[in-house]
Parts: sequence; structure tokens; C-alpha cells
Amino acid sequence: MRRIILASGKGGVGRTTLTANLALALAKRGRSTLLVDACLSSPNLALLFKLEKAPYTLNDVLRGEIPLSDAIYEGPHGLRLVPSRVSETADRVDLSRLPSALEGLGERVEFLLLDTPGGLRRETVAALRAGQEILLLTLPEITSLSDTMRTKVLLEFLGFRPLGVVLNRVRGKDYEFPPGEIRRLLDLPIVGEVPEDLSVRKAWRKGEPVVELYPRSPASQALMELARRLERRAS
Ligand SMILES: Nc1ncnc2c1ncn2[C@@H]1O[C@H](COP(=O)(O)OP(=O)(O)OP(=O)(O)O)[C@@H](O)[C@H]1O
Ligand SMILES: [Mg+2]
Repeated sequence: MRRIILASGKGGVGRTTLTANLALALAKRGRSTLLVDACLSSPNLALLFKLEKAPYTLNDVLRGEIPLSDAIYEGPHGLRLVPSRVSETADRVDLSRLPSALEGLGERVEFLLLDTPGGLRRETVAALRAGQEILLLTLPEITSLSDTMRTKVLLEFLGFRPLGVVLNRVRGKDYEFPPGEIRRLLDLPIVGEVPEDLSVRKAWRKGEPVVELYPRSPASQALMELARRLERRAS
């Protein structure tokens, strides 16, 4: 089982959007995929998969009240999902229990994608421990990049080793850093580039993942390509 996390220094760079759509892209490609919302402080994944009222959630699993299997729901294309409770504050659960809660998924899941909190707070680090392949998600702009460089150093200090970079909201303007320069700055390969695309926001407004609602949009095509590349990468 490959456990993939898109981590970012800054919040709001598209972690939830890209994690959800990448998971769905992998499911569309026939991969057995589980998407877990480990972002308990702003659990947004439920909004994309109509799971706001799910009776059992990751919160209950982390409290040891139910097994993980009771909080798994079926989404489009066979994607399986574990939502967090929208109406509960994050302080009532301990994310450090996440790695053990995910044990036992074993052979049934090929790809596990985790949506984690932003920055490097205690809860973020706890959630990152459940991952294995960490990709840094950044915008191609100086403010986001300087934060990403700092995050990379801190992650390495904490014993995590980011494997690559995903760029989001790429417009191809001259105020952006080109991919080659970002690769040099971060000393990591660029694994994917998702363009700035209005379809992404329209899809959020309609409460559906963009790869499902607008499969031909530039963002969806980039996300399908990212899924293909991740499949090809050795874990
Ligand atoms: N490629 C894109 N093109 C256009 N808009 C985008 C793109 N990616 C993300 N967005 C928009 O950016 C906003 C933030 O996205 P999202 O909630 O996924 O970020 P996040 O990193 O998970 O934020 P948070 O730190 O709050 O968890 C949303 O309004 C989303 O629609
Ligand atoms: Mg988010």
C-alpha cells in the first residue's frame, strides 16, 4: 500500500482539492484507493463527496470507539472514503493514533491518500507520520516557495523525506518561477503541474470533484496525468 500525502507550508494552496481529485483520478484508473480526511480542524473532503452527515467518521475511529472499516464509505468509481466530522472540533481527538488506526488495511488498498492540516503544527506532524510518500505542494510564487523551502528543511529535520514537488495554480506568467528553477531551488523533481482553472472553483461550488464534473478541463487533465505518473513511480 502506497501512502501519499501532499504537504504544504502555507494553507490554502489546494491540498484538499488536489488530494481529493488525485484520489479520484487513481480510482478512475481502476486503482483500489482510499482517501482519508485527516484534516480535523477544517474537514472539507466531506463537502465534495456528500458525506457531511456521515454517522461514523475518523473522529470515532481515533477515539477507539469503532474500527476503521465502520467509517469507510463508497464514492464514485469505487473510491473509498473516510470523512472527518464537520461538526466537531479537532481538540477532541488525538491524531497521533492515526498510523495505528490505518494498520490492517493491508493488501486491499493500493493507494492511501491523506488530506492533512497545513503548516507544521503538532497535529500536522502527527498526520504526516501516517504517510510514506510526501510530496510538497506549492504555488509557483515567491511567497509560497519561500515557505515551501522552509517546510522542506523542517520536514527533513523531523525525519521526513519529501520525494517531489507538485505545482498548483500555474498560470505561466512571468512573475512565476519556472519549473526548472523550482526544481533547482528545492532540489526535488517536479512530479506534477496543475494550472489555474476556474473549473476547480465551479466544481467546489457544485460540491463535486473537478475530475468528475469537468473531466476535460485543463486542471482535470493535469490531475489524471499526475495519477499516471504516480502509478509509474516506484514507491
Ligand atoms: N488549480 C486551481 N485553480 C483554481 N482554483 C484552485 C485551484 N486549486 C485550488 N483552488 C482553489 O483554492 C482554494 C483553496 O483550496 P483548498 O481548500 O483545496 O486548499 P487547502 O490547501 O486544502 O486549504 P486549507 O489550508 O484551508 O486546508 C479553493 O477555493 C479552491 O477552489
Ligand atoms: Mg484543506
